[in-house]
Amino acid sequence: MAEIVPAGDAMERALALLGKGEVVAIPTETVYGLAGDATNGEAVARIFEAKGRPRFNPLIAHVSDLAMAERIGRFDPLSRKLADAFWPGPLTLVVPLQHDADIHPLASAGLDTIALRMPQGFGATLIARFGRPLSAPSANTSGRISPTSAAAVTASLGEKIRLVVDGGATEVGLESTIVRAVDGGLRLLRPGGMAADEIERVAGVALQRGVAGIQAPGMMVSHYAPNTGMRLDAKAVREGEALLAFGPKRIAGWQKAAAQLNLSEKGDLREAASNLFAFMRQLDVAGAEMIAVETVPMSGLGEAINDRLSRAAAPRGLSDDERRISHG
Ligand code: TXA
Ligand code: MG
Repeated sequence: MAEIVPAGDAMERALALLGKGEVVAIPTETVYGLAGDATNGEAVARIFEAKGRPRFNPLIAHVSDLAMAERIGRFDPLSRKLADAFWPGPLTLVVPLQHDADIHPLASAGLDTIALRMPQGFGATLIARFGRPLSAPSANTSGRISPTSAAAVTASLGEKIRLVVDGGATEVGLESTIVRAVDGGLRLLRPGGMAADEIERVAGVALQRGVAGIQAPGMMVSHYAPNTGMRLDAKAVREGEALLAFGPKRIAGWQKAAAQLNLSEKGDLREAASNLFAFMRQLDVAGAEMIAVETVPMSGLGEAINDRLSRAAAPRGLSDDERRISHG
């Protein structure tokens, strides 16, 4: 069983394990990550194995500074502008891989691009001290909800890893926004913890959207799935349902909900984002037949919240292709 160690006491332990090619669960400002040395094939293989993740699905390489990022990926003026403005923070940039980059091919799934992110907090210090990039997917079993607390990591991966660094509840609560900056333009591959309109304001160009042959491979598969079904844009609570509410107004029948939680009583999307995964987990174990979800507006972080909700609500048993079509 993994040992949970407070972030303040965990640095040397984490460094020692990473140095031996082991994996460590660490807090970032978005969600907890399962980190390993991105230059070490064995370490990267351990990440895939612990998560049960398909190996065609590449990992984000986490860096501590721009110099480290530029040894791995090639930046153009737009990606450079975004890195300058938003790093460290909840933005991942997919850029062309440098020819001589010291990244194990398993970490990039053999692609000629690489996803790069500079996290905040414990992760940043850890990478700076380690001196090498860390591959880190979200620290959950593949296809399940991303963990926003050390306890959620342990519930999912506790038997498979040795150390979970506990930094408390993550601040943003959603995975990073992924933007591809490869052909001179910018494409939104995954809405996330940095709102798309803020990125567009800094970039001075619109983010391209929609499927255009290239997307984040991990977005094809079912993701963020609780065991209990979810019903979105609910206008009334039905018998036997739990309620995931948003904002000050309640939908009809809310009094009879088997359990209920409000993402943000005051209708604040930032607060809602940080509560989303933890509340989905809590309602998932409330014994309800279904989770009814109130409408969440699409503005700002609402885009990412609605993306995660619609993936969680996707009918089960569809093939990856069917899912991609229905949630692309
Ligand atoms: O907030 C986050 O991004 C967290 C924390 C731990 O940093 N990490 C995270 O990693 O969410 P993961 O592996 O769960 O999701 C990364 C996504 C996957 O959907 C993967 O397919 C995509 O990034 N990705 C990675 N490399 C890519 C590339 N070269 N091109 C397109 N998509 C890529
Ligand atoms: Mg993930």
